[in-house]
Amino acid sequence: MSCFELPADTFDLNVSDFANYAKTRQASVAVVVNPNNPTGRLVSVKNLLRLASSLAAAKCRLVIDESFIEFTGVGKKNSVEGFLSEYPNIIILKSLCKIIGLGGARLGYLASADKQLVQAVRRRLPLWNVNGIAEYLLWILPEFRDEWRASFRRTRADVRSFSQMLRSIPNFKVFPSHANFLFCRIPNAWPGAKHAAEILAIRYGLLVRHCGYQSMKDGDRYLRLTARRNEENTGLVAALRQINEDFSSSVKAAATDFPVASAHRAGNLHASSLRRHLDVDG
Ligand SMILES: Cc1ncc(COP(=O)(O)O)c(C=O)c1O
Repeated sequence: MSCFELPADTFDLNVSDFANYAKTRQASVAVVVNPNNPTGRLVSVKNLLRLASSLAAAKCRLVIDESFIEFTGVGKKNSVEGFLSEYPNIIILKSLCKIIGLGGARLGYLASADKQLVQAVRRRLPLWNVNGIAEYLLWILPEFRDEWRASFRRTRADVRSFSQMLRSIPNFKVFPSHANFLFCRIPNAWPGAKHAAEILAIRYGLLVRHCGYQSMKDGDRYLRLTARRNEENTGLVAALRQINEDFSSSVKAAATDFPVASAHRAGNLHASSLRRHLDVDG
């Protein structure tokens, strides 16, 4: 597997460059996560179809992970779902857990017009590939269609106001997002995103995802912050603002003292076990 590097100023995908990259390596499969996790950036349907055509000519499949698509401005209209029969080299992968807010439900699907591929995947599925609770969820989901739609609208509004609040933190860069989270570059004065995530957890009891473990360049300069209820977002922004003030005024002391001192203050979390948790889970 090889990774195509996105430009660090926008993290936007140039589909022509990506197609060339895949073709040069004679790849049989190219993968696009749309909107992307962790950047939240979106590739338009038009560009994805251009990419699919270009890859088809090189006998390359295009896997598109649409797990966060409902959170985008026009929701499912950003999906390539309606074009599968015209583009049989496209495979949509989707986890439903993101949009129903139930991590661990283990519910999702693959969609493609390539019948042979679909049959081959089906043959390899384990016997009990959907558990009972997930199956029940599937049954009742249609009953909550209106609530579901309302929740996407609400999430989009929450992301917008969260983004505005985060942008008010000096030197904190927030990338425009099409998902339910925001991808942020931390100020230069901060030692690293993993370190910041530890401070947030130990001192404030807030768990956020840092990108230090990602294959991307400079991953430890980025945080991925999920929008939650307004009061929770406000609390996180206040904590980040405080951390920024501390690091800006005394970088060295903050970088070494924070985790130990705050572990004692919090009392309910053991710093080393928590660090282990973050290393595994982000
Ligand atoms: C883009 C994307 N697709 C798929 C998954 C897997 O989702 P699940 O844990 O629901 O299987 C993740 C998990 O974070 C994800 O970010």
